[in-house]
Amino acid sequence: MPDFQHAQLDWDEHGQPLSRGFGDVYFSRASGLEETRHVFLAHNALPLRFAALPAGGRLTVGETGFGTGLNFLCAWQLFERTAPTDARLHFVSVEKFPLTRADLRQALALWPELAAYAGALLEQYVAVHPGFQRFVFAEGRVVLTLLVGDVLERLPELDARIDAWFLDGFAPAKNPQMWTPELFAELARLSAPDATLATFTSAGFVRRGLQEAGFVLQRVKGFGQKREMLAGRFEGAPQDTASPWFARPPHPAGAREALVIGAGLAGCAAAASLARRGWQVTILERRDGVAEETSGNPQGVLYLKLSAHGTALSRLIVAGFGFTRRLLQRLEPGRDWAPCGVLQLAFDAKETARQAELAAAFPADLLHRLNREQAEALAGVALDSGGLFYPEAGWVHPPALCAQLAEHPNIRLLTHREVLALHRESGRWCARAGETLLARAPVAVLAGGAEIARFPEAAGLPLKRIRGQISRLPATAASQDLKTVLCAEGYVAPPRAGEHTLGASFRFDYDELALTAEEHAENLQLLREISTDLAGSLQADRLDPAELAGRAGFRCTSPDYLPLVGPLADAAAFAETYAVLGKDARQVPQRPCPWLEGLYVSSGHGSRGLLSAPLSGELLAAWLDDEPLPVPRTVAEACHPNRFALRRLIRGG
Ligand SMILES: Cc1cc2nc3c(=O)[nH]c(=O)nc-3n(C[C@H](O)[C@H](O)[C@H](O)COP(=O)(O)OP(=O)(O)OC[C@H]3O[C@@H](n4cnc5c(N)ncnc54)[C@H](O)[C@@H]3O)c2cc1C
Ligand SMILES: C[S@@+](CC[C@H](N)C(=O)[O-])C[C@H]1O[C@@H](n2cnc3c(N)ncnc32)[C@H](O)[C@@H]1O
Repeated sequence: MPDFQHAQLDWDEHGQPLSRGFGDVYFSRASGLEETRHVFLAHNALPLRFAALPAGGRLTVGETGFGTGLNFLCAWQLFERTAPTDARLHFVSVEKFPLTRADLRQALALWPELAAYAGALLEQYVAVHPGFQRFVFAEGRVVLTLLVGDVLERLPELDARIDAWFLDGFAPAKNPQMWTPELFAELARLSAPDATLATFTSAGFVRRGLQEAGFVLQRVKGFGQKREMLAGRFEGAPQDTASPWFARPPHPAGAREALVIGAGLAGCAAAASLARRGWQVTILERRDGVAEETSGNPQGVLYLKLSAHGTALSRLIVAGFGFTRRLLQRLEPGRDWAPCGVLQLAFDAKETARQAELAAAFPADLLHRLNREQAEALAGVALDSGGLFYPEAGWVHPPALCAQLAEHPNIRLLTHREVLALHRESGRWCARAGETLLARAPVAVLAGGAEIARFPEAAGLPLKRIRGQISRLPATAASQDLKTVLCAEGYVAPPRAGEHTLGASFRFDYDELALTAEEHAENLQLLREISTDLAGSLQADRLDPAELAGRAGFRCTSPDYLPLVGPLADAAAFAETYAVLGKDARQVPQRPCPWLEGLYVSSGHGSRGLLSAPLSGELLAAWLDDEPLPVPRTVAEACHPNRFALRRLIRGG
């Protein structure tokens, strides 16, 4: 990002951070902790409100200026001390100049009493890149959605209902670009009824601006030497601008119980996100465990196929990468995954030009260019070109990730259960195999890849299967030198358990999953194109494709390459309800969408399920629990299952 920067800090004689760019302090020199407690916690009445949360209740805080995360950690500490054990805190914060991890560590070392919370934040503070970044703490009791970017760009993308605002940010005089009527209008748009707000400043133009936006404010005693600050409440009219076909469906009635069909990455992730929120989840899987089909490869690559043009897919990938990467922090490196980086080779002129564009569009800690010498030194093998390096990426053993996601006391995994039919009866989805009732629940999530088309409710979704095969190559003494994942048209990873994964073929219109020698031979050719040196180390010319071990699976893709994640509507009723769009696409008929109550989908994860499926679990849970969305609203809409029905109507097809 040309304008992306980490915070530039100076440290004063007491070890307190100062912003070089803004010439201001991050918190009061007297006591940052006490200031936070006075200004933001007390004046949003959080001690009382946390304690008064009902069982399973939730409170959502919104903040401008995450800075060192001090406000977040103090809110978390208070929440832990005062809220019922099954209540949840959701914290949404915007930050234009995130601290580096090293600076964050130094700043938070100032607060020994927050050490446990700071440690948890630091452990998860990886892959923090522009856009929406979701963090899960305390087994899901505390969720942070960090919006990296300018408040005036990020808040308009947010879909959330905020209960309490921490209006932070450097002093209005030092940061006038932030304290604007546009910001105040966004705070109003995002406020839940009766949302409260507190800010350390009492500047007249801030007070007037907030009042104009619908907040009723009082001047109250500020912290320490500060005479005044502002506190108040939103009393304006609620605003909701979503089109009905992308609006949030009503809450499904009944117990918080869900059944998930499919135990691949998509199903395990959906189950995990719901279970963390207190749902009782039953996963129905036809095989004998998790990750037995497409998600069962020994190594998958965290390969970010990005666009320099900020497409919905590209934004989903950056957000998904961050989320997956933070999940991996909890797995065993070397066995379950490796943060060894991914090097995308600049194998021809077109790819070189594309990489130059990407390097100009994204921060260097997400990706940067390497010349051939640098690339060879890093990879440990001879290469024909340099490329684009993703230092925080690497390979993952997807079954380990699935197993971790499915491991939760609220999740029951039932294997050897193939769902043949699904019916809604007495407010519950009943999954059946012939006469046998396998499970039932008010909510069902279809996560069976392209197989979901067998259910009439999902049969109209345009999903396609593309067969792919990977080859498993025994590591040799020389191939151990490979230090990073290498990608060109194919990919090869450093060894796991004595084998390299080499992938992958693409076969359209193939229904079989038996391994073919032809595809192994193709994969070996992809390896030679990546590096003849490595192909030599692996003795590729001596390997017999007919004898190679491997694995085949079906990628499930959609026409626009985005996954399908969200609630399902009744296709026929949808076409009828919004038929007018066929005549005039600009109309937004205010008729509620004919949702299939409680029916949701997560599919179409294509060749990048490791990046999109885990975050999609969070997106599903956000739709279901009326929570802040973990991606920009436009990205959620770009992934919405209704998009195809809508396009069909508009095109008249
Ligand atoms: C060769 C190949 C290489 C790949 N490489 C990568 C990579 O490097 N990086 C990456 O990110 N992605 C990669 N992918 C893509 C990735 O594997 C997929 O996106 C991901 O696994 C999809 O997960 P899923 O849960 O949607 O599907 P699946 O893993 O197929 O899970 C669906 C599950 O549903 C079950 N099921 C289906 N119907 C029913 C039913 N009616 N009743 C009960 N159970 C049912 C199935 O048994 C299955 O376990 C690759 C894919 C292939 C094929
Ligand atoms: C006083 S500090 C916040 C302190 C923080 N709440 C804490 O607990 O440490 C102000 C923060 O606002 C951020 N900021 C300033 N202008 C911004 C903008 N326009 N958009 C997003 N963040 C901004 C700064 O980078 C800085 O981190």
